[in-house]
Amino acid sequence: MKTHFFPLVFLLIFSLAQGLNPKCDIQDHGSNLQVFHVYSPCSPFKPSKPLSWEEDVLQTLAKDQARVQFLSSLVAKKSVVPIASGRQIVQSPTYIVKANIGTPPQPMLMAMDTSSDAAWVPCTGCIGCSSTAFDFAKSTTFKTLGCQAAQCKQVPNPTCGGSACEFNMTYGGSTIAGNLSQDTITLATDPIPNYTFGCLQKTAGSSVPPQGVLGLGRGPLSLLSQSQNLYQSTFSYCLPSIRSPNFSGSLRLGPSGQPVRIKYTPLLKNPRRPSLYYVNLIGIRVGRRIVDIPPSAIAFNPSTGAGTIIDSGTVFTRLVEPAYVAVRDAFRRRVRVANVTSLGGFDTCYSVPINAPTITFMFSGMNVTLPQENLLLHSTAGSITCLAMASAPALNVIANMQQQNHRVVFDVPNSRMGVARERCS
Ligand SMILES: *[C@@H]1O[C@H](CO)[C@@H](O)[C@H](O)[C@H]1NC(C)=O
Ligand SMILES: *[C@@H]1O[C@H](CO)[C@@H](O)[C@H](O)[C@H]1NC(C)=O
Ligand SMILES: *[C@@H]1O[C@H](CO)[C@@H](O)[C@H](O)[C@H]1NC(C)=O
Ligand SMILES: *[C@@H]1O[C@H](CO)[C@@H](O)[C@H](O)[C@H]1NC(C)=O
Ligand SMILES: *[C@@H]1O[C@H](CO)[C@@H](O)[C@H](O)[C@H]1NC(C)=O
Ligand SMILES: *[C@@H]1O[C@H](CO)[C@@H](O)[C@H](O)[C@H]1NC(C)=O
Repeated sequence: MKTHFFPLVFLLIFSLAQGLNPKCDIQDHGSNLQVFHVYSPCSPFKPSKPLSWEEDVLQTLAKDQARVQFLSSLVAKKSVVPIASGRQIVQSPTYIVKANIGTPPQPMLMAMDTSSDAAWVPCTGCIGCSSTAFDFAKSTTFKTLGCQAAQCKQVPNPTCGGSACEFNMTYGGSTIAGNLSQDTITLATDPIPNYTFGCLQKTAGSSVPPQGVLGLGRGPLSLLSQSQNLYQSTFSYCLPSIRSPNFSGSLRLGPSGQPVRIKYTPLLKNPRRPSLYYVNLIGIRVGRRIVDIPPSAIAFNPSTGAGTIIDSGTVFTRLVEPAYVAVRDAFRRRVRVANVTSLGGFDTCYSVPINAPTITFMFSGMNVTLPQENLLLHSTAGSITCLAMASAPALNVIANMQQQNHRVVFDVPNSRMGVARERCS
């Protein structure tokens, strides 16, 4: 009796706790997936005890630093950038969606990553992965791809020691290794048969999303390429605000249901980094004034990879030094409060209430004016306010805090990206 009693009590408590927040019973419909912040009550990755605001901001910034270095290293064509990790950072993705893998389906809460092509999940037996893994032995549709498979030519560092197509790569500051595999992946109610992904066997480092990554990049092994018939390389998302953890946003796959009245800017292609979504940032306005930025700081350069990308995984927008300094100085001049302080990597913080200007990103064909909620970080106590941007080594990254409560549409066939305000939290 005793052995049965325990799980029953646990189940009851579990279902009661779920009942308090019905949003957590994730039921996705059509081609729409709910998007959760990792700190959502529905997320298993939320910190076990709430972090203080300062701890949270500093940790997020440190994780961002690793990601921005990683993205910049992709641009500079260096393989691995050593990341000086002064302290232990538990890395996790910012936004997660539920994907069902295998037959019968096994739910995995995967990190949405627009700057990554491939999808990968931890598989049972994986060394260094989290405890929730995809149990491939229980799926009747699972296959391991061999070295002769055409897709094996697209994986990084393929090895064919055994018969399987094994690969390894860096992700953020971590390394991951696994076998190229295929199985059915079901997104909302859409099954995608024979979907090619990485079945992880080994990971090292702290930036591996615990239940895998769903890459929304546009390279050859991406979800977009593999679901071409179904979604026609079109998707959009609305990311909920970090300040409203109980809300979910949405990931809408395919052309149907996308906004009709929306402004677009062309997507640019860097042949060396085909997965990244480059856009043409031509200027930045602080309030009504166009900031004087050296053109080379924001110019797109397909041969070096410099320019501007839109990324769902970085939290705070990064601009290369000369652009950042010009924007920050213009912002400070507009705020007109002499006592500017810093917090971690943020250098434009105030300990008094401020009257902040809007900031407008001017892309070719589209201006996006951001209100305060996308620009300012307020401490819980309200005593500190920081401009939520920082400088970057080589690449401008329009990050997710600056995209929250906007619908961002990626229309790859027409090579354009659209942005419109939409309150999803
Ligand atoms: C979010 O939901 C939880 C219950 O799941 C509740 O305790 C908490 O107060 C809610 N937070 C907000 C900000 O509404
Ligand atoms: C990655 O694969 C290469 C061979 O392609 C191998 O030399 C290297 O040791 C592997 N790295 C890891 C971390 O497994
Ligand atoms: C991955 O490949 C290795 C080497 O070929 C093999 O030993 C292992 O069983 C494979 N695992 C899966 C899940 O296919
Ligand atoms: C998936 O793969 C299986 C086995 O290789 C094959 O029989 C089936 O036709 C494939 N299905 C699709 C939709 O490609
Ligand atoms: C500036 O702000 C800091 C931090 O809030 C505070 O300690 C300091 O007294 C302020 N200095 C002035 C001159 O107001
Ligand atoms: C963006 O703003 C600039 C400067 O305010 C203006 O000249 C330009 O026409 C605007 N572009 C669009 C596409 O609205």
